[in-house]
Amino acid sequence: MRRILVAGNWKLNGNKASIQQLVNSIVTGANELTKVSIAVCAPYVYLPLTAELLGSSAVALGAQDVSEQDSGAFTGEVSAPMLLEIGCKYVIVGHSERRALFGEKDGDTARKFAAARKQGLIPILCLGESLAEREAGQTETVVARQLDAVLELEGVQALSDAVIAYEPVWAIGTGKTATPEQAQAVHAFIRERIAAQDEAVAKKIQILYGGSVKGSNAAELFAMQDIDGGLIGGASLDAQDFLKICQAGQNQ
Ligand code: 13P
Repeated sequence: MRRILVAGNWKLNGNKASIQQLVNSIVTGANELTKVSIAVCAPYVYLPLTAELLGSSAVALGAQDVSEQDSGAFTGEVSAPMLLEIGCKYVIVGHSERRALFGEKDGDTARKFAAARKQGLIPILCLGESLAEREAGQTETVVARQLDAVLELEGVQALSDAVIAYEPVWAIGTGKTATPEQAQAVHAFIRERIAAQDEAVAKKIQILYGGSVKGSNAAELFAMQDIDGGLIGGASLDAQDFLKICQAGQNQ
């Protein structure tokens, strides 16, 4: 059985006061949720504060992006060794917002994935198609291409210490959730593609769903065979809604 992971992606939101409130509430609520793994991915500058607030709780810390470089003359970048030192366990790579708004290509994402793994961070590799791609029947082609970039650079074994998040772009921040069946179909496709190279890795890897997950729809998504949790945007900024999603994970 794969354990459910619920990870919050705060994106470009929050300030010291709001993060203090949010994290304190999450930590308190998470105390009883021992059967689900929980993480929060904070903006870079708030990682130390979030790490301090999380303290010794079971809620893990993640970042939202990472440089493919470890150090050097790369102004504005933040490296995997830095994230590790600050207490991160996870790092999101290849989020669709990085791909669409900041020109990140499949190869860039694959190199970030490699840089994170090399330090022992767990990359959360995001895959997902746009609405136009879905309507053109290209969902599997796009997701396969994004996944293959990592498989080709790092090999299938690299996925044994990684997480995948399937996030259809058309469902992100739009209130339009993929139906559990739509999501399950793509999750199964991703798992089969990995299984074609290594069955054990495919069985083990957590594949999260992301895109308008809320307290009200998490349970039906997490009930699907190949959905192992969620990557949560908007609802992760509301402690009560986020904890409701975590509770849905706990109940699986
Ligand atoms: P929403 O939950 O706001 O749709 O965002 C999903 C997402 O992009 C998480 O990474």
